[in-house]
Amino acid sequence: MSGDGGPAAGGASADARRIIDTSVAHSARVHDYWLGGKDNFAVDRAAGDAVMAAYPGIVMTVRANRAFLARAVRFLADEVGIRQFLDIGTGIPAANNTHEVAQSVAPGSRVVYVDYDPVVLLHAEALLTSSAQGVVDYVDADLRDPQTILSQAARTLDFSRPVAVTLIAIMHLIGDQDDPYGIVRQLMAAVPAGSYLALSQVASDIETEQVAEAARRYTRLGHENLRFRSHAEIMQFFAGLELVEPGLVPVQDWRPVSELEARTHSSVRGGVGRKP
Ligand SMILES: C[S@@+](CC[C@H](N)C(=O)[O-])C[C@H]1O[C@@H](n2cnc3c(N)ncnc32)[C@H](O)[C@@H]1O
Repeated sequence: MSGDGGPAAGGASADARRIIDTSVAHSARVHDYWLGGKDNFAVDRAAGDAVMAAYPGIVMTVRANRAFLARAVRFLADEVGIRQFLDIGTGIPAANNTHEVAQSVAPGSRVVYVDYDPVVLLHAEALLTSSAQGVVDYVDADLRDPQTILSQAARTLDFSRPVAVTLIAIMHLIGDQDDPYGIVRQLMAAVPAGSYLALSQVASDIETEQVAEAARRYTRLGHENLRFRSHAEIMQFFAGLELVEPGLVPVQDWRPVSELEARTHSSVRGGVGRKP
């Protein structure tokens, strides 16, 4: 799908949330634009360009974050042996989607994707391409309603066994009024000891002024408010968890596997924590 004649939300649902609104920028589509995808509209490209004008590092940042996602999932599947993933804020499919990385390590991995964007929903079928041994499911839901996510994910995931909850580049879209820490607490309360949280979000204390100006420009064209957080504020998401090495760091510093990855730059911090 591409272009501004793009698909109506036809058939998806009567729910207003599921109507593809091409008059305001949406994070999934702007993110797709920065990643070089085709699933974006003029307003998304305008918002993406406005952010780039204020903060040229954004493209490198989203790519570094995407590489973090892949490394974190590979670490969890390969080094920890996690076989169940709850990926919330999936985004429009790109390279190295969670199930592809997890199932390349362990074909029997079970993955539940969650997103509230109608364009991501349209791509759900493309995402539902599990290995024969594994399972992939998609839940159309809002992170601000974690109990719905948990009950629908239970169709696929066994919550008596360890689960990796991945919240990659989504928490900066959840404002303080929506109790972001409470949401993460509820999700992690539902999974047993030995489960993991992998989380990244835009930092408020890396290249602060450029990033804040970029957010102001984005907010003019988008319907989502942005809440960037400091190192200490992001750390609070990991309360009660044991952070694995190297802790909460700019994403390119989290176990880079090549010189190229290590030398990149980003304004996103990420980490992985274990529920004891
Ligand atoms: C910046 S993209 C990140 C995509 C992917 N996780 C990555 O890091 O490449 C954020 C995604 O979160 C989704 N999202 C934002 N707020 C959400 C909410 N309240 N509930 C569910 N999904 C949400 C957006 O639709 C978008 O697909």
